Amino acid sequence: MSGAPCLPERVLGYGAGVPVIALVNQKGGVGKTTTTLGLASVAWSRRVPSLVIDLDPQGNATTGLGVWSPTTNVDEALAADQPGAVARLAAPSEWPDDKGLAPNVVASSPALAGRERQLLTDPVGAQDRLRVALSGYADLVLIDCPPSLGLLTINALFAADAALVVTEPSAWASDGVREIMATIDRVAARKPSGLEVAGVAVNRLARTRDSRYWNEQLIADHGRLVLPPVRMRAAVAEAAARSLPIHALPPRPGAAEACGEFDLLYDRVVGTPDAEYRDGL
Ligand SMILES: Nc1ncnc2c1ncn2[C@@H]1O[C@H](COP(=O)(O)OP(=O)(O)OP(=O)(O)O)[C@@H](O)[C@H]1O
Ligand SMILES: [Mg+2]
Repeated sequence: MSGAPCLPERVLGYGAGVPVIALVNQKGGVGKTTTTLGLASVAWSRRVPSLVIDLDPQGNATTGLGVWSPTTNVDEALAADQPGAVARLAAPSEWPDDKGLAPNVVASSPALAGRERQLLTDPVGAQDRLRVALSGYADLVLIDCPPSLGLLTINALFAADAALVVTEPSAWASDGVREIMATIDRVAARKPSGLEVAGVAVNRLARTRDSRYWNEQLIADHGRLVLPPVRMRAAVAEAAARSLPIHALPPRPGAAEACGEFDLLYDRVVGTPDAEYRDGL
């Protein structure tokens, strides 16, 4: 083996290093946090170093990673311009480390809700604080965004190499996706380093005619951007509720299938491990 780093190849042109991915949708409850945790679980299972940044004051990604009383949080990175602050604020999650590599987490804080209002008073750096705080960070980064297109999500988009739009196949989902795409385009136009669309992740696809219909609408409207779906399965919700990576959930109906779906999504969004990386497993 050469001394080359064990990094995944990327499907998209993210440039050097592994990507920073913002998981976004202004609509609540579509699966942003679930998809963040699912992708983190794939990284866990492949021992890829990763970091989850929980930008939602609800803190569901933080608790999904088993962290209930964080000693640091992401609000500290947003309070002022602090180059490199993320590396200082990242702490190990509580996911088990026997069969995988636990991701790090920059925890949420209820103070984030107030921070969004405070950022509005900064006419210069309001949209850029997370990008500045992330400078120098080299691991895969997944940013779980709140259900709004306010300044927290805008900070995530400015910090990210790519945006992954998460949606469920429900009424008018396509319209919501179109609205976010317009915001992503506007941010991309203002970022010298650009901002890619990693795709549209369809979560909670059910075996109903309605679910299939809205999924087909998404494909008709967004074509090749629509990624392989993650189906509605009790095991997916259970993993989050038990603060476990789904890849570590004891065997139960649907768990292996859900892992396979997140594996596929990860391969499309982050990239497949190269041969050398697989040899090292
Ligand atoms: N594929 C799935 N199968 C079963 N349950 C799911 C699935 N995806 C999400 N859920 C459940 O749906 C609910 C909403 O999901 P989640 O919290 O991930 O959405 P969200 O977009 O992050 O919400 P918010 O906008 O409030 O942050 C959760 O209870 C979650 O466990
Ligand atoms: Mg969420």
